[in-house]
Amino acid sequence: MTQDELKQAVAQAAIQYVVEGEIIGVGTGSTANFFIDELAKIKHKIKGAVASSEATAARLRGHGIDVFDLNDVTSMSVYVDGADEITPQGAMIKGGGAALTREKIVASVASRFVCIADGSKLVDLLGKFPLPVEVIPMAQAVVARKLNALGGEARLRLKDGVAVLTDNGNVIIDVHGLQIANPVALEDEINNIVGVVTVGLFAKQGANICLLGTASGVKTLQ
Ligand code: A5P
Repeated sequence: MTQDELKQAVAQAAIQYVVEGEIIGVGTGSTANFFIDELAKIKHKIKGAVASSEATAARLRGHGIDVFDLNDVTSMSVYVDGADEITPQGAMIKGGGAALTREKIVASVASRFVCIADGSKLVDLLGKFPLPVEVIPMAQAVVARKLNALGGEARLRLKDGVAVLTDNGNVIIDVHGLQIANPVALEDEINNIVGVVTVGLFAKQGANICLLGTASGVKTLQ
């Protein structure tokens, strides 16, 4: 199976967690996009969705799915999103698509986080994937120095030589070379650096269910 076929398989499997008549929290990225396409097939059964990025909102609307402002939603049963790395315990690195802050906010409202990922994302130790950190632009240099002091190598995320900006107008610093033995502690430590908006560690509130796409089928970790 190709990686896209594995992503599609987990996206299809995630539909079983969608609660009829409700608003669904929807993540960002290539795997989430497959989920949006699956969600579109049952759109008449749901009330709508809350999007974790402008890109996701556009894709949802393109399928005719109503997109709700999170401020108008008090609860959600489920949030479905991909991950860049996930441990068997459900701790994740996210933010490869620069949507980490809105992802964490939407996920915080949902009762259950369903992670959908191809099997290559499962790791025992987080950190091979550079850890994304969303930072207020004027704090970029001071935050980078503090991230370097944690033992990683902080690099401003660029595209075509220009700093990538998030949907919130902030920059992303990717921290390379970390070996994250205690993701809960590191999440707290980085979130406490002044100038950091959000770290892409989802450990304090990790995935409740992970649907992993493998050559032998979709495996469920919970
Ligand atoms: C977006 O900011 C990320 O958190 C994505 O969820 C993550 O990068 C996974 O993306 P893919 O599904 O494209 O691998």
